Amino acid sequence: MMHRLWEALPETVRRPTRRLLRRVRAHKPARSPEPPKEFFTMCPETPPAIGQALRRIRDVGPSGDYYEFGLFRGYTFWQAQKTASELGLSDMRFFGFDSFTGLPDVTGPDAVTDEFHKGDYACGVAQVRRLLDQHGIDWSRSTLIPGLYHESLRPELRLRYQMRPLALALIDCDLYNSTVPVLKFLDDFLQDGSILLFDDWNCFQASNDHGERRAFKEYLDARPYWCPDPYISFGWHGQGFIMNHVDETDTVREHENAP
Ligand SMILES: C[S@@+](CC[C@H](N)C(=O)[O-])C[C@H]1O[C@@H](n2cnc3c(N)ncnc32)[C@H](O)[C@@H]1O
Repeated sequence: MMHRLWEALPETVRRPTRRLLRRVRAHKPARSPEPPKEFFTMCPETPPAIGQALRRIRDVGPSGDYYEFGLFRGYTFWQAQKTASELGLSDMRFFGFDSFTGLPDVTGPDAVTDEFHKGDYACGVAQVRRLLDQHGIDWSRSTLIPGLYHESLRPELRLRYQMRPLALALIDCDLYNSTVPVLKFLDDFLQDGSILLFDDWNCFQASNDHGERRAFKEYLDARPYWCPDPYISFGWHGQGFIMNHVDETDTVREHENAP
């Protein structure tokens, strides 16, 4: 009954309600007679999208590693590894980047809404490690790199961890100022066919002037040799792209495919 009522509501009502619920749950798990659920994602549509992308990687490539920017409690990171193992992607390694203190100050172009706040999604690295341990993560192919991206995403990480080209990235860090250093860092790792999943693509009312959309648009404007193909949409919020590398002498950009 509740489900039918919910489904009958227009998307303009459901979307802000979902956002509000995400914010409330980020601060405090709902009270219930059940023990509080510790290990979860705010976005249940994201793990299936990761699964779909991993199946494509198994079937058509490219081979490479998994990068996640924004782990919260580590659920999507763990799901990615679990699914990759089930699909036989046994040489894929998993790199997780997060402050583990939650969102930074919301400044710059994103300081226009009340949607995100400093400290949202905070979960200490020790707790994330414990949750991943409890759920059987394979640490021999997983690395967590703590820190705010503008400080932690340094080019020398590539050599230190022998990082390989990117097969799949989940970019789930909500904000423009967070996504800019992520994309700059990925410059060294993108290859033809790399899949980028932007979890917060439609935040800020899907405006190109904020958040992940603005950062990706600016990134592509400066790098006309990347022509992304829209790949999958997931939930109300997420959008994936397959990165196509075009010849730099070929200046014709397929505008209808560009975000
Ligand atoms: C929405 S949560 C990630 C959710 C997770 N992927 C899941 O589905 O459960 C966003 C994460 O991005 C991280 N984050 C955002 N901006 C960051 C920055 N500039 N540096 C480091 N971490 C950042 C936050 O700490 C937070 O854990």
